[in-house]
Amino acid sequence: MCSGSFAKCLGITLIPLAILCVLCNILLLFPGGLVAEDNGHITEEVWYFGGIIGSGVMMIFPALVFLGLKNNDCCGCCGNESCGKRFAMFTSIIFAAVGVLGAGYSFIVSAVAIHNGPKCFYTNGTAESIPSWTNPFVNGDYLNNHTLWEGCRSLWAS
Ligand SMILES: *[C@@H]1O[C@H](CO)[C@@H](O)[C@H](O)[C@H]1NC(C)=O
Repeated sequence: MCSGSFAKCLGITLIPLAILCVLCNILLLFPGGLVAEDNGHITEEVWYFGGIIGSGVMMIFPALVFLGLKNNDCCGCCGNESCGKRFAMFTSIIFAAVGVLGAGYSFIVSAVAIHNGPKCFYTNGTAESIPSWTNPFVNGDYLNNHTLWEGCRSLWAS
């Protein structure tokens, strides 16, 4: 029903990916690569911690369980051989479900974040406008409207 070497391979693959997701989430806390002066400068969706909770914490447990599965019967439960085969399989399925939930949460947060776009230090381009921290993309198209991107001022120059 289940192959231990496949589960191991899955576990080994999931761990670097989970770490990458956590790092990406942490990077988003530093807009422009700088420490934000105000938490209001950080895009709201970053605080939902899709990468840290969904793809990180909720993914690391199933990854470790898959890694611990025995090669032959695929049924050690977290390395404990004495527990029943059925119970072991049940545990693996529960942990896999946790992973699916985490991935779903992370996916939804990312989709909402891409739809809303990030906050940036924005000026609408007219001479008298003063740049301010806002989300210019919220009623626009973040991925495609490059006119809006150009309104985002570099934090390095200011
Ligand atoms: C981009 O956004 C600006 C400001 O909302 C709008 O005036 C412009 O028409 C948009 N451009 C495109 C190609 O959608």
